[in-house]
Amino acid sequence: MTATVISIANLKGGSGKTTLAMNLAAGLCKQGRTLVIDADPQGSATQWASLGVNGSAYPASVIAVGNLVRDVRNFQQDYRYIVIDCPPSLEGQVAQVSMTLSDQVLIPVLPSPMDLWASVRMAKAVQNAKFDNPRLKAWLVLNQVEARNSLSRSMQEALAEFEIPALQNGVQRRAIYRSAALEGSSVFGVGRGKQAAAEIDAIINEVLPQ
Ligand SMILES: Nc1ncnc2c1ncn2[C@@H]1O[C@H](COP(=O)(O)OP(=O)(O)OP(=O)(O)O)[C@@H](O)[C@H]1O
Ligand SMILES: [Mg+2]
Repeated sequence: MTATVISIANLKGGSGKTTLAMNLAAGLCKQGRTLVIDADPQGSATQWASLGVNGSAYPASVIAVGNLVRDVRNFQQDYRYIVIDCPPSLEGQVAQVSMTLSDQVLIPVLPSPMDLWASVRMAKAVQNAKFDNPRLKAWLVLNQVEARNSLSRSMQEALAEFEIPALQNGVQRRAIYRSAALEGSSVFGVGRGKQAAAEIDAIINEVLPQ
């Protein structure tokens, strides 16, 4: 068995990469052993996982990246899923390397046309990664939406023109995403996280149909 590898990337900062990576991995844990590789020098994912009581609140394994290529090679026999939380920059080629190692890349974007336009460089980076790694599938994931049907017309038009398709299922703006992070947990591990957990499960089912 080799792990299915999923990159969470966007060159735009603050779009929800770490939030999606950590909750997605917590959801994937229910299906098999899951590893998060924190490939961002900011270290948010590592810090998140360390916040739980005795480090035990977060269900997946989380490691800080050493050498990404080597780390994926070393761990891909031991885990069913590897989720890579990428930094918001092209520096050090981390996002590019991560995508060449991945089966899928999920690109969280905030639901405004300006945020989507800022992801155009990301679309180019995906295209480049596909030269080296033709199996790569790329998806936009709308994050912090109020409700799917509340998307503005200009956002819908921008999405329709963007070369990377958006998942049907997005992530709504919910305080529980922030509080789960503060507790070093995930929406699966906190009270009142049910609706959020259901939307993360829906994303998992859409990306990795059973
Ligand atoms: N769906 C959501 N609902 C509410 N808050 C959210 C949601 N998604 C993300 N946030 C909050 O938005 C902020 C940015 O999210 P996050 O750190 O996951 O983004 P990021 O893309 O990893 O940032 P960076 O580019 O700095 O790595 C955080 O405070 C996070 O708690
Ligand atoms: Mg982050």
